[in-house]
Amino acid sequence: MSDLGANGETLEALLSEERRFPPPDDFAAEAVAQPGVYAAAAADPVAWWAEQARSLRWETPWETDLEWEPPFARWFVGGRLNASVNCVDRHVEAGLGARVAFHWVGEPEDDTRTITYAELHQMVCQAANALTELGVKTGDRVAIYVPMIPEAVVAMLACARLGAPHSVVFGGFSAEALAGRILDLGARTVITADGGFRRGAPSGLKVNVDQALEQCPEVQSVLVIRRTGQEVAWQEGRDLWWHELVDRQSPAHTPEAFDAEHPLYVMYTSGTTAKPKGILHTTGGYLTHVSVTHRLVFDVKPEEDVFWTAADIGWVTGHSYIVYGPLANGTTSVMYEGTPDAGGRDRWWRIVERYGVSILYTAPTTIRTLMKWGEELPASHDLSSLRVLGSVGEPINPEAWMWYRRNIGGNRCPIVDTWWQTETGGIMITPLPGVTTTKPGAAMAPFPGIGADVVDNHGVSVGNGQGGYLILTQPWPGMLRGIWGDPERYRETYWSRFPGRYFAGDGAKRDEDGDLWLLGRIDDVMNVSGHRISTTEVEHALVSHPGVVEAAVVGASDPTTGQAVVAFVTVRGEGPEGEAGRELVDDMRAHVASVIGPIAKPRQILLTPELPKTRSGKIMRRLLRDVAEHRELGDVTTLLDPTVVNMIDEKLRHAPQSEEEEP
Ligand code: PRX
Repeated sequence: MSDLGANGETLEALLSEERRFPPPDDFAAEAVAQPGVYAAAAADPVAWWAEQARSLRWETPWETDLEWEPPFARWFVGGRLNASVNCVDRHVEAGLGARVAFHWVGEPEDDTRTITYAELHQMVCQAANALTELGVKTGDRVAIYVPMIPEAVVAMLACARLGAPHSVVFGGFSAEALAGRILDLGARTVITADGGFRRGAPSGLKVNVDQALEQCPEVQSVLVIRRTGQEVAWQEGRDLWWHELVDRQSPAHTPEAFDAEHPLYVMYTSGTTAKPKGILHTTGGYLTHVSVTHRLVFDVKPEEDVFWTAADIGWVTGHSYIVYGPLANGTTSVMYEGTPDAGGRDRWWRIVERYGVSILYTAPTTIRTLMKWGEELPASHDLSSLRVLGSVGEPINPEAWMWYRRNIGGNRCPIVDTWWQTETGGIMITPLPGVTTTKPGAAMAPFPGIGADVVDNHGVSVGNGQGGYLILTQPWPGMLRGIWGDPERYRETYWSRFPGRYFAGDGAKRDEDGDLWLLGRIDDVMNVSGHRISTTEVEHALVSHPGVVEAAVVGASDPTTGQAVVAFVTVRGEGPEGEAGRELVDDMRAHVASVIGPIAKPRQILLTPELPKTRSGKIMRRLLRDVAEHRELGDVTTLLDPTVVNMIDEKLRHAPQSEEEEP
């Protein structure tokens, strides 16, 4: 048994039910959120949220706090505001123009930029003027496909300033995936870059846009940021360089205020069908939710803290806790372009040291990777500036939690394990760092003003010590307002399983004290390195490969990425053996990358003459998952041909394990 604790405690002791971490006294005394916040919010949640909303700047006050016609909510009805003004202008007007908004750190060493709120303001105004010159108007959708550079934030805020909903597409998605999103949105403007850096080498983005736009004739303008200097194809009349168009614009722009329910952005996420869902967020409620959660969950004191969400802007975590939450609160953030090992495996700790990062927010998959790299790396840097650590994206295993606490947090920093989703807009279940006594691996309790429960199949609350489905029991300001272009799917996906209540798709457990532990997805959604990937979507991609007849995809547990994509595929004809088989498998993996993106590439593809099916013809995914995880097989009596399972199992045990690079 390894010694993990400072006092030589065993792993068992560390993970025992008795293990509790109350906030340090001095931390608790100074904390932004005090214990009374729970009772205040519980007394009247809607009024409590309205109170929070008042910390934003509204050009027109709202008349009604909430109109709730399940499942459609309208928050702060009649109020008008501008998200970009709330994130930038009002801080400059309050005399904080010289405060740093972003310490930006590029992937190449020493490629850094410091951007103050005054500079950000100027950049956003110029970009808004440029978009106006391109004909972008309120309500128009703009697709953004960029690396982690300051212009990404500027582009988002410029869209918000004009009331033009943005849709940021993660740079790791393929041309095909990008095209699907542009078409679904009816976007006519795309903002991209020539490319980005990935472990020292430039990768292409504009090239994917060019390919995507072959399918999107409606797109009229492509605004291209120069990041890497690589050669790009150019379509005159459609493509424009950012530095040529934006830099010559006036640094002044008079913003308009928009309705609280005006669409702010659409973020696509995977569901249980092949088509990703465009999750719609609006302005007033979303900004209220992300700003108050940012402040209370991370104990943010904007005058002193340096906040770092180590996530990509292409995901909701980046939207809410790199852009909108921190900027609404006037915080100084670090924004880092690269991977944790770019320029050395201690890159993160050099960044923490250099900028005095005080709050770090990352995903369990990264924590487990850092664990593999060893505790010497963080130990060789001064991390004493850190005071709060956050986790998001997947359940954090207690070992990773403890490692994070000890090796990064010096046994001193409270850890907040935050559960939420693209759909929820902001953090929903979490400790409050100055209030909650935490347990390694538990997200603990609903944030003030949030209603959550764990229920059985019939929607009845389970007691303490029991598991079930996680549901949300009342509307909240940051909730999705729908699925872009598909209100019925919105109702069906989230509100029909337990009528009137939001079905999250996650399993959860209440422990003996009533505290919440998240157990992962219970539907056909995989969670790979904190990214949501639909099994159906990967299956569709595989079946579109000319060699594939049928495919079944499961998420198998993986020690680093949480889950990994494992595919079972039947092919035309006999199915090649040896080298030819390996080539076919590589080709299929590349095919999935080109249809969806490298993040969806299966870790392993197993060629099999048949897939195990029930008598009614349904693929037995549960069983395949057991096979993929080498577990004992459960009941197979409804199986068409039990020998298929044995054969698959046998084959998997002997299949060469692909040593794949991280996508
Ligand atoms: O399964 C839950 C998991 O991630 C899903 C949401 O994924 P996405 O919309 O991509 O948003 C990720 C970032 C907010 C959830 O349904 N998840 C997220 N955070 C946690 C989590 N599972 C357990 N614990 C968490 N803290």
